[in-house]
Amino acid sequence: MTASDNLIDGRSIAEQIHRETAERIGSLKARGLAPGLTFVRVGEDPASRVYVGMKERMSQRLGIRSTTEVLPEGATEGVLLELIGRLNADSGVHGILVQAPLPRHIDAARVYKAVSPDKDVDGFHPVNVGKLLLGDTTGFVPCTPAGVHELLIRSGVRIEGADVVVLGRGTIVGKPMAALLVQKARHANATVTVCHSLTRDIAVHCRRADILIAALGVARFVKADMIKAGAVVIDVGVNREPDSSVKTGYRLVGDVDFDSVRQVAGRLTPNPGGVGPMTIAMLMQNTVRAAENSIRAPTLDSRT
Ligand code: GUN
Repeated sequence: MTASDNLIDGRSIAEQIHRETAERIGSLKARGLAPGLTFVRVGEDPASRVYVGMKERMSQRLGIRSTTEVLPEGATEGVLLELIGRLNADSGVHGILVQAPLPRHIDAARVYKAVSPDKDVDGFHPVNVGKLLLGDTTGFVPCTPAGVHELLIRSGVRIEGADVVVLGRGTIVGKPMAALLVQKARHANATVTVCHSLTRDIAVHCRRADILIAALGVARFVKADMIKAGAVVIDVGVNREPDSSVKTGYRLVGDVDFDSVRQVAGRLTPNPGGVGPMTIAMLMQNTVRAAENSIRAPTLDSRT
């Protein structure tokens, strides 16, 4: 087996999705519609700056008109809600993404509820969260779990009937991930266990998993002895680990102890180059869908 045989290559799968998305953007533009995506950032959190910058560059590459609104760290919730109201009303904006985390004085739940569900390309609005739980596919699914799902499907991993263990119960990844995979639907129908900080004997759960999805935010938490031989391991984690040998003083590592787990897993994602590119691919796809949805089907009246 060569070194890359058991890797699930998120970069190349994301590129495949970008090609499909670019084609849909071409069709929209041929109809006179340029998809628009607005990012909102509050404060100067360095990681958020990097993430939004990456999403902006990909938007530009694919031909999505993107703009970024930056509010100062001390901006009030009222100012942010007012901005969201303006973006909701702007017909040139099809998608709105308010980058998390928000400063502590702002009620994030209230902010995400203020984004129009039709422009909620993050899938954080309660209407879209509810649709996901109900199995209503007209909603937007949060980008990271949607990306993991697509990664599994396009890698030919069998999800139906699989024992899936999700580590982490966050609103952005863990909970929507479990909701997606437990649906009575094609490429779902899994038996899903969600583990969290108060779960007893996490390793016992992990060792049962055919598919293990690590999204708990603890560097190198998943070790080789927690993996069933041949299991599929997806690493969602992005953690900073001190490293004096590099200029920044830290490096990014996942939730999976890659080198040891690789010896036991059947397939696994590299990190970087696994889930990250897929998150961006799903955001672009959601934005294009929001733009497509904005073209109303002609009513009976307008056809006559
Ligand atoms: N911060 C980390 N991940 C995400 C995401 O998917 N969307 C937003 N808006 N903020 C994030």
